[in-house]
Amino acid sequence: MTDVQQTDSDQPIVRIFDTTLRDGEQSPGASLNRAAKLEIARKLERLGVDIIEAGFPITSNDDFEAVKAISGEVSECTVAGLARCVEKDILRAAEAVREARHPRIHVFCATSKIHREHKLKRAREEILKMSVEGVKLAKRFVEDVEFSPEDASRTEIDFLAEVVEATIAAGATTVNIPDTVGYTTPERFHQIITELRERVANIDQAVISVHCHNDLGLAVANSLSAILAGARQVECTINGIGERAGNAALEEIVMALKVRNDHYGATTRIETARLYPLSRTVASLTGISVQRNKAIVGRNAFAHEAGIHQHGVMQHAETYEIMRPEDVGVPASELVLGKHSGRHAFRDRLEQLGHRLNDEQIDEAFVQFKELADKKKEVFDEDIDAIVEGMITEVPVSWEIVSLQTTAGGGVIATATIRLRDVKQDRIVQDAATGDGPVDAVYSVIQRITGVTVKLKEYELRAITGGKEAQAEVLIKVQQNGRTVRGRAYSVDIVEASAKAYLNAINTMIALEGVSTEAPEGV
Ligand code: KIV
Ligand code: ZN
Repeated sequence: MTDVQQTDSDQPIVRIFDTTLRDGEQSPGASLNRAAKLEIARKLERLGVDIIEAGFPITSNDDFEAVKAISGEVSECTVAGLARCVEKDILRAAEAVREARHPRIHVFCATSKIHREHKLKRAREEILKMSVEGVKLAKRFVEDVEFSPEDASRTEIDFLAEVVEATIAAGATTVNIPDTVGYTTPERFHQIITELRERVANIDQAVISVHCHNDLGLAVANSLSAILAGARQVECTINGIGERAGNAALEEIVMALKVRNDHYGATTRIETARLYPLSRTVASLTGISVQRNKAIVGRNAFAHEAGIHQHGVMQHAETYEIMRPEDVGVPASELVLGKHSGRHAFRDRLEQLGHRLNDEQIDEAFVQFKELADKKKEVFDEDIDAIVEGMITEVPVSWEIVSLQTTAGGGVIATATIRLRDVKQDRIVQDAATGDGPVDAVYSVIQRITGVTVKLKEYELRAITGGKEAQAEVLIKVQQNGRTVRGRAYSVDIVEASAKAYLNAINTMIALEGVSTEAPEGV
């Protein structure tokens, strides 16, 4: 295979291709604004991934702009933009990655019988031609072209080998073998990669990549099996987010290669101590929380409940721990700061949690931290994450809350009185309304004052830290004329967090007015 680096120990390096911002963002319920994508991209770069798939530029203006912004900012790793083997997709992807120091265009075309016949309605020869032409067109803009035969694991092996060989001949430098619907098994996938290596005459001119979905819970196992068979790039996402049941989890693949290096004999460039902080950033920015017992980054991953286990770990950690919490960046203690903590301690903790802010941002975060510390005695890591993530917004604020008062409970009709500032016109508007509970009353007033009518589709409330002084996080989804946007906010007061989240969504809705929501067909 081409250009597969070796480590000092002479082990091959498996390239980590992160698709959190593309396939991950396709997760039901996840959608990230440009600022959030940039924040994740910067952290992926620091984590040490080799390739960031930053988006699918043809799908929307937002996606295009996000890929462009990431291309302009990330310099240590390759930035890839996805495109179908369709001229307009490839031109758009080429434009989006133009400023990247290491640009890649990733073109794909479905090859399996079921996709050929029912989705693309094209014969094998046409698919082959589209794939080759797609690679050739992409190659006119960038040297680094990846080709994916979508649904490869359900494609007839002879046709798959033919397409792979033809696309490498056309200039593909990476050929990615996706298990698009999470159907394959570790044994079968090993065989597919082995057969491709045996049958495709020019296979040594490209890096073999794999891209596994988790419909049967086998995405990580399938990826690792492919590595044993010779794959040297894996496509994965932080926390395993992605279409349907998700993609292979980056942190699981990386730690399996590290902890079981004796078995896999391959390594990655990932700085594993950055895994946990990034997992939390992604959970928080996408609103998709990590299950408690999730391997590597779940809250319980290093918690020992049974007395016999606790005793064992205290005597010798390796009795029940195959890796140390610090190897993946789980902080030694969760309880951090209080109202007497100074700026220095606050800045140190920000760094430990993986937040790299400039001085101005630290000042802003510190003011918010002090306000929070006045309201609650103990400020936990999650509170600090929430402060930082609350700052990562680029939605222009049209309306902001000046004051909010509610009365509810004990047989009283819930009432809300709110004063909002109309930022553009610099005026204060006050109104009051009743509702079925305080949150409903608050939402009615906000709609009345702003004049923006939206339908509340989802409302999720969660405590982000423990105890009765926990900060609440409210995540909502609202809809207007077929467009759905998310709102998110934090506060120690549930009603205030609900109001802020709602206003956040309304501000987004106002900012998006006139922006198209169309997605291309056949994706
Ligand atoms: O799952 C899949 O097949 C994909 C391709 C675009 C690589 O996401
Ligand atoms: Zn996928």
